[in-house]
Amino acid sequence: MPTPRLAALTESWFQKHKRPLPWREGYEPYRVWVSEVMLQQTRMEVVLGYYERFLRRFPTVGDLARASLDDVTAAWSGLGYYRRARMLREGAIDVMERFGGVIPESVDDLMSIAGIGRYTAGAIASIAYGQRAPIVDGNIARIVARLFAIEAPLSSPALMRSAWAHAEELIASSKSPRDLNQGLMELGALVCTPRNPNCRVCPLRRGCAAFSAGRVDEFPRPKARVATREMHIPLYLVVDRDGRVLMRRESGQLMRGMFHLPHGDTTLLTGAPLRVGVAETLGTFRHTVTNRRITFEVFAVTRRLRTRGREYAWIDPKLLSAIPHPSYVRKALQLAGIGQ
Ligand code: ADE
Repeated sequence: MPTPRLAALTESWFQKHKRPLPWREGYEPYRVWVSEVMLQQTRMEVVLGYYERFLRRFPTVGDLARASLDDVTAAWSGLGYYRRARMLREGAIDVMERFGGVIPESVDDLMSIAGIGRYTAGAIASIAYGQRAPIVDGNIARIVARLFAIEAPLSSPALMRSAWAHAEELIASSKSPRDLNQGLMELGALVCTPRNPNCRVCPLRRGCAAFSAGRVDEFPRPKARVATREMHIPLYLVVDRDGRVLMRRESGQLMRGMFHLPHGDTTLLTGAPLRVGVAETLGTFRHTVTNRRITFEVFAVTRRLRTRGREYAWIDPKLLSAIPHPSYVRKALQLAGIGQ
């Protein structure tokens, strides 16, 4: 389907189905700005509970610029991600100092303001001022991925690049940039949702590559998983006459201060491998830590070769819960039949 047709369908759908949101009465630039910043990391229902109160407290960009950081943060309480409140106030100060209190219209000027990035600049320029400025957020990236059956995975730079390029083409052929951009976001929020999109009511379905192929649930492609690494760690169980177990206190970055079992050759735990004489294998168990899948092999040491360093201590296994230790230690002791 030609891009102008996609744009026109989005705009007319928006005119019919838009939600009556407070900043959509008059599209005053400061009100649009505040709404976009609030909506960046907070759900619409929550934003609606705070938006009007915030604007009553700081009705203009000048009021916000003159307010103390504490007052602005207090009015933001409950919305989370307080850096946004701080940046919004900094931006307001910037508008007062560099733009005489008037929020600028062009994307370039908007992007020169503290805290305003490409998305927020495009949203203010198009929604408040009707400029042909594209915007891409998570909703729009998802719509574009489905419309054009883009193989690049969710949140990948390749998908974002492609989404900005498509958003640019759509806005270039729109009649109302304000309605087009809001229409795309509204479609993403109400119809083309992450799960169970409601394609039956979507104005774009005839132009949607994923829908035409019956593969809507396959786009956007999921984020690539971080590859898991398979590792093998030999653990040594050394028990003295009193039934105490030899343990080692870790001093490296990972799990500093924790008590570990002595280990053989591995890059995952610090400290020199324990040098052992005779050891018999007791068995193995698997353990996953973030992206590492580790097979621990537990050996009972029946004769030791070397004296040990100061980081070693004899620990009564009954007292294990009183000392910091990673969970694999308990698994190893259980495997040896000496854990609780
Ligand atoms: N989410 C973020 N900005 C929005 C807007 N202007 N309309 C609808 N949903 C949004």
